[in-house]
Order: sequence, then C-alpha cells, then structure tokens
Amino acid sequence: MTDAISDRPVAVITGAAHGLGAQIAERLSADGFSVALLDVQEEGLAAVAERLSHLHPEAEARTHALDLSDEARVAEVFTEIEARWRRVDALVNTAGGSGTVPVRDIEELSLDAWTTVLRNNITSAFLCARHAVPIMRRRNFGRIVNFSSGISQGIAGPTGTVGARLAYATSKGAVNSFTKQLAKDLALSGITVNALSPGLIVPQEGRIRTMFSSLSSESQAAIRDSIPMGRPGTGEEVAAAVAYLVSPQAGFTSGAILSVDGAAA
Ligand SMILES: NC(=O)c1ccc[n+]([C@@H]2O[C@H](COP(=O)([O-])OP(=O)(O)OC[C@H]3O[C@@H](n4cnc5c(N)ncnc54)[C@H](O)[C@@H]3O)[C@@H](O)[C@H]2O)c1
Repeated sequence: MTDAISDRPVAVITGAAHGLGAQIAERLSADGFSVALLDVQEEGLAAVAERLSHLHPEAEARTHALDLSDEARVAEVFTEIEARWRRVDALVNTAGGSGTVPVRDIEELSLDAWTTVLRNNITSAFLCARHAVPIMRRRNFGRIVNFSSGISQGIAGPTGTVGARLAYATSKGAVNSFTKQLAKDLALSGITVNALSPGLIVPQEGRIRTMFSSLSSESQAAIRDSIPMGRPGTGEEVAAAVAYLVSPQAGFTSGAILSVDGAAA
C-alpha cells in the first residue's frame, strides 16, 4: 500500500491476456500509462507482462487473473489497483468474445452458452465500471472504453470467426446501450464513456487469428470481399482508436460508438 499517487496515468485493461487487449496494453504503455492487465488466462497475462517489461521497462505492468463476472474478485482487484497507484485514469473493457463453437440456429444455442456470452461481454463491463467509477470520481476524471461489435446490427450468412452469434449480437447490442446510458449518467463527472465497434480484426495473436487462419482460403477470401476495404483490420488500428478515446483531449466525446471496420457499418 502506498499513500503517494502515481505520477503516470493508470489504465486497467480487461481481456489483456491475448489478442486486442494485449495490443492495447502495448500501445498504452508506449503512451506513458502504467497498466493493470486483467484476464482469466493467467499464463497469457504473464507472457504479455513479460513482453511489456522488455518493450517499455519504464511503464509498470501488473497482472490480475480473475473471472470478470465474479463481483467479489472484481472488487478485490480494484481495491488492490487503487492501493498500488491511487488512481485509475482509463478502463478499457476489452474482455469478451463469442466462444469457439460456431452456432447458427437458435435451437442449437444452449442456455449455458447464452449466459456465458452475456456474462463475458456485458456483465464483465458493468462490474468493472461499477468498481472503477468510484476511484475515477475521486479525481473528477476518467475514460471508459467498451468493446462492441459490428455484429450488434446482425449479420446474415456463415458464422465466419463468430461462435454463438445470436448471444454475441445480443450482448454487443447491450454494450451499446450500456455505453450510451452510462455516458449520460456520468456526463457531469469528468468521466467519459465510449465504445468501439470493430468489424473483423485479426490481431497479432489470439483466438480470432487462430479461427481466421483455420478457415479455408475460399472462406477467408469471401470474408475479405465482404469488407468494403477488402481486408480485416489490425490490432494496431484498434489500439490507436483506444489511445485517442482515453486521452485527455477526448474530453467532449462521450456516448459515441466508433466503428473501426473498413467502412462496413
Ligand atoms: N477480433 C475481432 O474481429 C473483433 C471484432 C469485433 C469485436 N471484437 C471484440 O473485441 C474484444 C477483444 O477481441 P479479441 O479478438 O482480442 O478476442 P480474444 O478472444 O482473443 O480475447 C478476449 C479475452 O477476453 C478474456 N475474457 C473473456 N471473458 C472473460 C471473463 N469472464 N473473465 C476474464 N477474462 C475474460 C479471454 O480470456 C481473452 O483473453 C472482444 O470484446 C470482442 O468481442 C473483436
């Protein structure tokens, strides 16, 4: 426990063990943040922290392994984060996903899969915001970035890299409404709340890269053809959008759902 407030801004990044969360952690470390990396996958977190310690030794990275839908653990972790740094400037709710099993028909979608997808995408964001906001309020400043998806509008055709599509689209629609309402609720607090709505993004590594690589070359080509820019996005392009939304300069932008999707929306 320290009484001194950290000189560096602090970003809490969920879903940071792989994929986009890991690349966002890299970008925000480069931008001068200390980072708290939260995910259920302990080994992935350790690997990301190790990489950051080489790339940005000046930026502190702490890891916290937890299930983000477990409120008691979320509360404990935010208490630890506040005790360590005395501030949380940014919360980036990257955790989520649609699972690894493609499900297209409602008859095949089990209640268990439905509940898991909603927990991972929306309950996790709610709980983290619930415990980050009191810390942000103490300094009258905060930036919350949630992760939606273009699929919140629904898609037809094959499931591509998406797993339980109906549950996933529903959860991301909820992320959009959560973002809009929380932005209004916090409008006078100095805390902004925005969401990114990516189309297909193939990060440096992670679940989506693995799923995309496992598709046939015809399926990959069909997906590329369905994107107006003719290619998936990169993790760097998503991290750059996050970097803007968490910056002090973005203070008048709140309640926005920013598409990062090669003109697909
Ligand atoms: N990559 C894309 O094409 C794409 C497109 C649209 C939206 N998104 C969204 O962007 C975010 C990141 O995507 P990604 O490609 O990096 O996915 P990913 O599956 O590689 O990473 C998601 C991470 O979240 C973690 N996570 C999920 N539920 C959790 C829980 N309950 N507790 C703790 N950790 C949990 C996972 O362990 C994983 O490390 C997700 O919210 C996803 O829905 C991604």
